[in-house]
Amino acid sequence: MTILTKSKQDIKEILKDQQEKVALVPTMGSLHAGHISLIKTARSECKTVVVSVFVNPLQFGPNEDFEKYPRELESDFKICEDNSVDIVFAPSVEEIYPSIKTANQETIIPPQELTSILCGKTRKDHFNGVATVVKQLFDIVSPGFAYFGEKDLQQLCVIRWLVKAFNINTVIKACPTIREPSGLAYSSRNKYLNDEQKSIASNLYKSLKLVKRNIRSGIFTVNKAILESLVFLSQFPEIKVEYFEARDKENLTLLEKSKTSSFYCLIAAKVSNVRLIDNIEI
Ligand code: PAJ
Repeated sequence: MTILTKSKQDIKEILKDQQEKVALVPTMGSLHAGHISLIKTARSECKTVVVSVFVNPLQFGPNEDFEKYPRELESDFKICEDNSVDIVFAPSVEEIYPSIKTANQETIIPPQELTSILCGKTRKDHFNGVATVVKQLFDIVSPGFAYFGEKDLQQLCVIRWLVKAFNINTVIKACPTIREPSGLAYSSRNKYLNDEQKSIASNLYKSLKLVKRNIRSGIFTVNKAILESLVFLSQFPEIKVEYFEARDKENLTLLEKSKTSSFYCLIAAKVSNVRLIDNIEI
């Protein structure tokens, strides 16, 4: 049986005698195949699975889509039930941030090196909001394991910093990106796109596969390969690229400064004004 609770007191009470490690899958709801893959992995690895559904106001900028972000708790709960989730935790904003109205909410500020690059350039304070809510969720649930998607690679790096910085006893599990058959990564924001726009958006992944092929062929330098992909994308006027960069896998430093041979290419772009991100391991 899946329990739905909106209260942090309740969830603490339910979990207090839990001997086995608890899994947490933090989400903002509007669950899709990407979320479900995290839930299934958690289900297969842990005795108790908690899915949080919370659209976190602190991680949205003033001109972003907090108000119109899809909220579908009823169908989210059904998906959780179908996947044998034990607890769905769907708190209100006040439950998570009692001080938010008085602006006394303390925020966690991860290091600039992680938050001023890539998405942090245009989404100021976004990762402060992510770190703050995830710390709250970890404090409430005390999970032994927490599951995050590699699609949000920068977020994953911020979460890894968080557990180290606060000595949190939670193992962070990274799960691969799940895609539609076209290659488009599942995202709650895909709901803003019609079929034609989705088909155009699938070129983001094509451009990532192209960059990988070109780098691996050895004919192109990384920078030249990125340029080739940007040229490919330029044929679609609906796609406005925000960044397309090669970065170290572990700490997201620029490739020239990185010592490892393992790296990612990451892209953010607006497709018909809907902001999408994706990445590929090279
Ligand atoms: P949300 O966008 O709902 O994503 C919840 C989790 O699902 C994240 O770890 C994200 O990386 C993962 N995810 C999203 N799309 C995916 C896909 N196509 N394949 C695999 N995993 C995918 O990310 C957030 O919410 C929030 O920032 C949150 C961490 C919940 C904090 O508010």
